[in-house]
Amino acid sequence: MSPPPRRFVRVLAPLLVLLLLLPLAHAQSLGEALQECAGTLTGSTQPQQIHLQMTDDASVMNVIWATEGRSTGEVEWNGQTVASTDYCYNHDMAFHMASMTGLVPGEEVTYRVSSGGDWSEEFTFTPIDSTANHFEWISIADHGDSSEGMDVSESIIADTTAQMVTISGDIAYADGEHSPWDSWFNFQQESMTRIPWVTAVGNHENEPGYGFSPYEHRFDSDGQAESETFWYSRDFPGVHMVFMSTEHDYTTGSTQYSWLEQDLSSVDREVTPFVIVYGHKPMYSSNSYHGSEVELRAALETLYVNQGVDLVIAGHDHFYERTWPVAGDTVVDTGNEGDVHRFARGYAPIHLVIGIAGRSAYEELDEPQPEWSAYRENSTYGWTRLVYDGDAQELAFTHYRTDETIGDEFILQVAPLASNSEEGFLGVPGFGTMLPILAMFGAAVRRLR
Ligand SMILES: [Fe+2]
Ligand SMILES: [Fe+2]
Repeated sequence: MSPPPRRFVRVLAPLLVLLLLLPLAHAQSLGEALQECAGTLTGSTQPQQIHLQMTDDASVMNVIWATEGRSTGEVEWNGQTVASTDYCYNHDMAFHMASMTGLVPGEEVTYRVSSGGDWSEEFTFTPIDSTANHFEWISIADHGDSSEGMDVSESIIADTTAQMVTISGDIAYADGEHSPWDSWFNFQQESMTRIPWVTAVGNHENEPGYGFSPYEHRFDSDGQAESETFWYSRDFPGVHMVFMSTEHDYTTGSTQYSWLEQDLSSVDREVTPFVIVYGHKPMYSSNSYHGSEVELRAALETLYVNQGVDLVIAGHDHFYERTWPVAGDTVVDTGNEGDVHRFARGYAPIHLVIGIAGRSAYEELDEPQPEWSAYRENSTYGWTRLVYDGDAQELAFTHYRTDETIGDEFILQVAPLASNSEEGFLGVPGFGTMLPILAMFGAAVRRLR
């Protein structure tokens, strides 16, 4: 074999060496986490999947986005710029998270993000002022990207007065694939860049081969790019919201149980009249597919009743159901018929299953309908919308179908109803200790049937 011509060695060899070194030099300028990325991560550095992520500080809002190519990023807001933390997991995209700080609740913020020198368009959002006397938001569960799920997404995007979206788990149904997450985030971007989406995990966030890792890298509730808190709470106008995990240990003595106990008991109900718990699996469900999660009920119902939780909003069963205020299988109040059904705060939690945001409906229901089941619908899709009115001290809940008709609605109010006794059920001394007895009584009645 003849040696390469001298001209080739002189001109092309240094170029080859440079080409070999270039990726290394590029990688060295990235964060350590990004250097550990398994994928090749080549391609566009144009930001995509951009979404706001709320922190526990109203003056700080995080933003997360993804790029095909390895890159470092930054966020620009109110004339300031801050570098992002850049990271990845075992997937062929890079992720970027950056914090916008010094925000004033109620004052609009304009921002954009960049990675590898490619800028996004400008977006605006308004940090939620927890002292406001009006707040409205959308709650969904079991979403995905079916045509019904897209209908729900489009309704959310078209809703210009909702200030937040919550998801009670089963978000994108990626199930070990990555592209469903990518397309899900891209489809929600128009809403998620404008208002925060706040999440509780479902069983479909615990993915084959990956566990919760995709969820942990794509969402943030603790300000740490590569970790995730699976149970946390946030204060909004009139409402304290708990986002718990039915997919992690919640039994007595567990870290989550202790946290729930401490968090729920620390709410000043004079300042924040309503408490909602979001979680995936339902304590009460009369759907034949999954049904009531009895271990969950056994572990947490007494705590929720004693702490005066008003609403427990779950999914998992793909249908809509609302219970009466119920404790230990026993209906403790039926409210007051009117134009819209009203309940006074302070009896027992109303449980909602709202797994109607797009996944195939589970149509088979337990018959006869249990006494605690106030309303159920088994073949429709949709979302729910909540409005807190601080002047009236009321919380209005409405269930919408995808054709925009209303399926169910009720109002929860702070003031007692004329039809109720002077004190709520929780006003009865020792109610909490009665609950296990009620539960045993309920179980005995069920066994006799
Ligand atoms: Fe589901
Ligand atoms: Fe589920």
